[in-house]
Amino acid sequence: MPAPERIPAGSLTAVELLIRGELTVRGQIREASNAVLYCTVAYEEQSAACVYKPVAGERPLWDFPDGTLAQREVAAYEVSEALGWGLVPPTVLRDGPYGEGMVQLWVEQQPGDDAAEGAAAGGGPELLALVEGDEPGDGWKAVGFAEVGEGRTALLVHADDARLRQLAVLDAVINNADRKGGHLVIGADGQLFGIDHGVTFNVEDKLRTLLWGWAGEKLPEEALDALGALRDGLAAGAPLAVRLGELLTSAEVDAVRERVAALLAAGRHPVPSGEWPAIPWPPV
Ligand SMILES: Nc1ncnc2c1ncn2[C@@H]1O[C@H](COP(=O)(O)OP(=O)(O)O)[C@@H](O)[C@H]1O
Ligand SMILES: [Mg+2]
Repeated sequence: MPAPERIPAGSLTAVELLIRGELTVRGQIREASNAVLYCTVAYEEQSAACVYKPVAGERPLWDFPDGTLAQREVAAYEVSEALGWGLVPPTVLRDGPYGEGMVQLWVEQQPGDDAAEGAAAGGGPELLALVEGDEPGDGWKAVGFAEVGEGRTALLVHADDARLRQLAVLDAVINNADRKGGHLVIGADGQLFGIDHGVTFNVEDKLRTLLWGWAGEKLPEEALDALGALRDGLAAGAPLAVRLGELLTSAEVDAVRERVAALLAAGRHPVPSGEWPAIPWPPV
């Protein structure tokens, strides 16, 4: 399991600190579409930065029931932990100054680093790019063609990166409707995380992602192993199934089981259901 981001030495785990610590709002993230508050959480000598998204600040959506996005974010963390890849920063549901909400450990990024711009922005691995022509090039996977203005198109590509590939598997399991560039963050030690999992776990197929590069390809062995363990963890009465049952409807938990079973039966990454891959727009 990867080390949690920036938890100073102390006896509490990141999850315990997020649940038990005193939550203090320090600022609001402006560009966010929901109320996203930058906070600190402190318990005795331990403290950490985090985001707090109160349920009361959730913008209503036509295709998700009101007031359920925070629970979905926590469920995404639980599934990520069950896969064993630590792709989602520790995330909990708790009370805060604006009522119940999700609280997630803040991933400290390298200054000027942006996963969407990558190396060009300074330091981190480059994950996404637009290239001329119709070949993704070595080390890249093609997503599809994108309009780039003045009638020109370019090929949208993402890195052929093992951790990004794990994230593609997680997204298929949680049915992520919004995996865009801004939802990939790279921590100070170079580790990639996925964030913003509010629009997940719908019973309808809503996978909308930039990470279509492996569509139809065989799942790596490690993914099959992780999915097999997840299937066992989802058995009725198992702790993960009980936990998801607190966060999602029983139809939504059943749909997770069905998606895991389908991935294992096919042994392949999912393919887009329509003629064109469903890509979030704008992609970053
Ligand atoms: N755990 C986190 N670590 C670091 N940055 C984060 C984290 N969560 C959110 N952010 C930052 O806040 C922005 C808005 O958060 P996001 O979860 O995308 O909110 P919204 O649901 O409104 O889209 C993100 O684009 C990212 O820059
Ligand atoms: Mg967002």
